[in-house]
Formats: sequence, C-alpha cells, structure tokens
Amino acid sequence: MRAVDLIQKKRDGGELSREEIAFLVQGYSKGEIPDYQISAWAMAVYFRGMNARETGDLTLEMAMSGDQVDLSPIAGIKVDKHSTGGVGDKTTVVLAPLVAAAGVPVAKMSGRGLGHTGGTLDKLESISGFSVEMGREQFFAQVGEIGAAVIGQSGNITPADKKLYALRDVTATVESIPLIASSVMSKKIAAGADAIVLDVKTGSGAFMKTLDDSIALAQAMVDIGTHLGRNTVAVISDMDQPLGFGIGNALEIKEGIETLKGQGPKDLQEVCLILGSQMLVLGGKAKDEAEARSILLSHIEDGSALEKFKQMVTAQGGDASQVEAPDTLPSAGRFIEVKAASAGYVESIQAEEIGVAAMLLGAGRETKESQIDLAVGIQLSLKVGDAVAAGDTLAVLHVNNAGVSKVQEAEAKVLEAYRISAEPVPPQPLVFALVTKDGVTRY
Ligand code: URA
Repeated sequence: MRAVDLIQKKRDGGELSREEIAFLVQGYSKGEIPDYQISAWAMAVYFRGMNARETGDLTLEMAMSGDQVDLSPIAGIKVDKHSTGGVGDKTTVVLAPLVAAAGVPVAKMSGRGLGHTGGTLDKLESISGFSVEMGREQFFAQVGEIGAAVIGQSGNITPADKKLYALRDVTATVESIPLIASSVMSKKIAAGADAIVLDVKTGSGAFMKTLDDSIALAQAMVDIGTHLGRNTVAVISDMDQPLGFGIGNALEIKEGIETLKGQGPKDLQEVCLILGSQMLVLGGKAKDEAEARSILLSHIEDGSALEKFKQMVTAQGGDASQVEAPDTLPSAGRFIEVKAASAGYVESIQAEEIGVAAMLLGAGRETKESQIDLAVGIQLSLKVGDAVAAGDTLAVLHVNNAGVSKVQEAEAKVLEAYRISAEPVPPQPLVFALVTKDGVTRY
C-alpha cells in the first residue's frame, strides 16, 4: 500500500477501507508516513468528507494507538461528559460532584487549556494544594470511595490523535466534521467510559457556527459511540455568549461553588441540569429527564452536592476551607471597568474575543510553556438581553501583572465583543437540540 494512492483515492471522492485507514494512522504514528502526506490526506478529507463507517474506523484506529483505560474495577455505569469547548464553561466543576452525589460514578480525565482560559485542571488548581496527578489505583480508589475524581490524562492516550490534531491545527483542517468527531470520540473511547454525554457548542464562540453544522457534528459523534457500544447522547448548547459571568480560573471556581449552592448564574445552572440529567438517565439513576432534574435539584438544595465537592477537594489534597470561603481563593490586585460607549441592549457577546482578552491578562496560555495567573480574568456585568446605558459597566477586568499594552488590548477586545442593539433583544435559547441514536429533538 502507498500513502500517495490513498490520498488520491480520497481526493477523488473515494471511500477508504478499514485496512487503508489503519495503514495511514499506524504509518503516521510510527513516523513512516511524513507530515506532508497526512496533511494532504486531511485536506482531501476536509473537502470530500468521510462516511460513517470510515469515521468509525478512524476513531477506533486512533483509540487503539495508545493506552486504553479499563474502568471496570469501578462499580456502576461510568458516564463521561465532554464539551467541544466554550468560554466560561465550568460545567465539569459543577457536574462531577453533583452527578456523583446522585450516585453516578464520575472518573474524569481532563485536559489543560491552550489559548483562552485554562482547562478544567487549571481551574481546579486554583484551590490550594489541589492535585490532578495520581496513579490509576488511587484514582479508582477515590472514585470507589467518594464517587468522583478529576485528574490529568496520564499515560499515553491516543498518541495518533495528538499528532494528527497538532498537524490539523497548522494546516487549516480542524473544522471538518469527521475529523473532529473521530478526534473527540477516540479520546472518550480510550478513556473507558460506558456512556458519554456530549455538549456540542454552537454559535460565534464554537467550532461550529451554525445549528445545522452543530447537529451534523453531534450526529457523527453519537453514531460513532452507538456503533462502538457506548450509549451516547449530545446536547447542542449556545455559545453566542460566554457561559455564566466569570472567565478565568479562580473566578470560574467561585462561580462553580455558587452554582453547587444553588446561587449561581441561571444559564450555567440550567446547562448543568440539562447535561447532568442526561448523565443520570444514562447512568441508570433516573427513568427520564424530569426525574433526573428533580434528583439533581434535591442534591443542590440539601447541600450534598457541595459536600461532595468538598470531599473531592480534600481527597485530592486541596484545602476544602476555600470552598466554604471562596474569598480566600486567589484574587487579583487591580480591577478595571470596561464601560459601554452607547445605550441599547446587549445583542451578543463574542465569546472568542472575551476568551482572548482573558488570555491577554494571563488567564490562559499563549504557548504550552506559558505560566497561568489563576487569579486574573474577566467578570461580565451584563449578558445578552440586558439593557445598557452609555457609561454602564459591561465587564470588569481582574488584573495582576499584565503590562499596560496587554491590558489596553484586553479592554478593547471586551468592548468589541459586546454587540449593542438599539432594539430590545428577546431571550435567547440556551439549548437548541438533543441528539440521540433515535434522532434529533429540537427545542
Ligand atoms: N477537540 C478535539 O479533541 N479534537 C478536534 O478535532 C476538535 C476539538
């Protein structure tokens, strides 16, 4: 077999067999097929697409390219949750303890962020002493004992995807539905979950800007999960503005704690309840979404979700007193208000611009080596639909060491991110559709 023939076949709209896909993935992993040939193949896939069988085969080949985690020592149905990435998305911080409090074990391996704000691991490290590194035995023991653990990916999970994703990033081939779907699902399959709840973001701050594309991506991922024997559902949720008000690591932990107490932002609470309900249904703890929602709400109201978070923090070496007193989490030294130039109503808040502004302040990494400042970020004051007068504060920058030019750039980005309309803006849907193996339900 020769890579050039397979590139040509895909370029001309052909279908690659399982053996041909295996040849490309394994050859690339071993360094036998060079970057330039895989770049050409990825571009051919970008334009020609792949059918469901090819996408499933690519997923499996990448899942099998490294370690595969066996979660079977942990009792119960292990449900994983994955978001395709959004600004201000701290749902894992809320859902891990909330869902565990309801009896579904959460054995979560998370990532760090590159660009924008940090990832879930960075956020959790805002809590003094919190460790995201532990061995498999300890990980299983913690999930067995308290029902939840969130750790960094250890070992060698999906190295083929790691290599291919990095190449796609620099060859303009990220935004391809079969390539995104196989990339995400290969990691979920290798991480060993029995069932998977996907949060596919749609809108200006998401990979997929339109609802139709987001649904197509969700369907591709649900198909893969279903064919590989993992019960998989996808929720399509809004990313035409950041989720919640806080963007930045400690700011997001504070908001997560508020949400576990039932005092968080309405949009964040609602997305958590929707995703959490799906997790409970797949985890066999509720017969339907309505029952699941009332179980979750009861764990917020009786304090057991917050208590579960404290147990998780303590088990991972963190200082649980900071959960009681979030003011003791890292906080910035300076606060700069960004004011509206004109009056009207907030029409949208470009999530990506807000994410970049937070990164400029030091909340995210520009390169893998960048040091994150856990305290800094952006606290939004107004969200979509809110009325605004000229001179009102739109958002507050939480600043420490960023230089004058970076702060000015961040300020300009935040101002640019807010689109103000002269007309009142009707409430925006938070969740647009649910995709399951049985089809698409639009809300
Ligand atoms: N996230 C992933 O893990 N892979 C993609 O291709 C895109 C988003």
